[in-house]
Amino acid sequence: MAILSPSILSCDYMNMQRDFENCKNVGCKWLHVDIMDGHFVPNITFGYSLVQAMRPITDLVLDVHLMIDTPIKYAEAFCKAGADYLTIHVESDTPENIHRTLDLIRSLGVKPGIVVKPKTPAEAIAPYLEKCDLVLVMTVEPGFGGQKFMADMMPKLKQLRQMLDEVNPTCHLEVDGGVDMVTAEICKENGADVLVAGSAFFRSQDKAAFVKALEA
Ligand code: DX5
Ligand code: ZN
Repeated sequence: MAILSPSILSCDYMNMQRDFENCKNVGCKWLHVDIMDGHFVPNITFGYSLVQAMRPITDLVLDVHLMIDTPIKYAEAFCKAGADYLTIHVESDTPENIHRTLDLIRSLGVKPGIVVKPKTPAEAIAPYLEKCDLVLVMTVEPGFGGQKFMADMMPKLKQLRQMLDEVNPTCHLEVDGGVDMVTAEICKENGADVLVAGSAFFRSQDKAAFVKALEA
């Protein structure tokens, strides 16, 4: 049984509350919130004020994906804004600061997660696996929605599931980028249990059927 985490990067920004309610009505349990700073990735999206504004209007799990440099500077603000999961990129700071940021997130009562970009090997996050409740494998270069799924990330996904089974078996393993009805199946076969979908979900005509298919 997998979980769909719809990426609000693809929702209608002038009608966010309506779209969040619609996500809930079609059976979603999570929302994926992409935070981009224009430095770590070549795009800018939302700040922690948006997470703060979302918190009172939805009880869905807020899965906040930080694509920002030195996340230690902003982690507390995102935790206090109401994130349920807060994921940081392993490439975004020094190993010492990555450890400190994950500990800080945990100390604030939020579930910490670590993310790997496509070119980063699984071994790079080995030192952090025991500290995380979520590991996210990017299946596109982070920065934009609507890109093509990188099937060559599947061996890394499988390897991370095996590594987690040894050290932290209850940790979620999530994929993000180019996930649709077809590629979701491949991700699940390789060990993913949380699937982010932006364009494929918000484009789909029958969203309830989409949720059902992905979560089967
Ligand atoms: C990309 C983001 C994704 C994005 C996925 O950097 O992290 O969450 O919304 O979009 P799709 O599903 O359209 O590839
Ligand atoms: Zn994302």
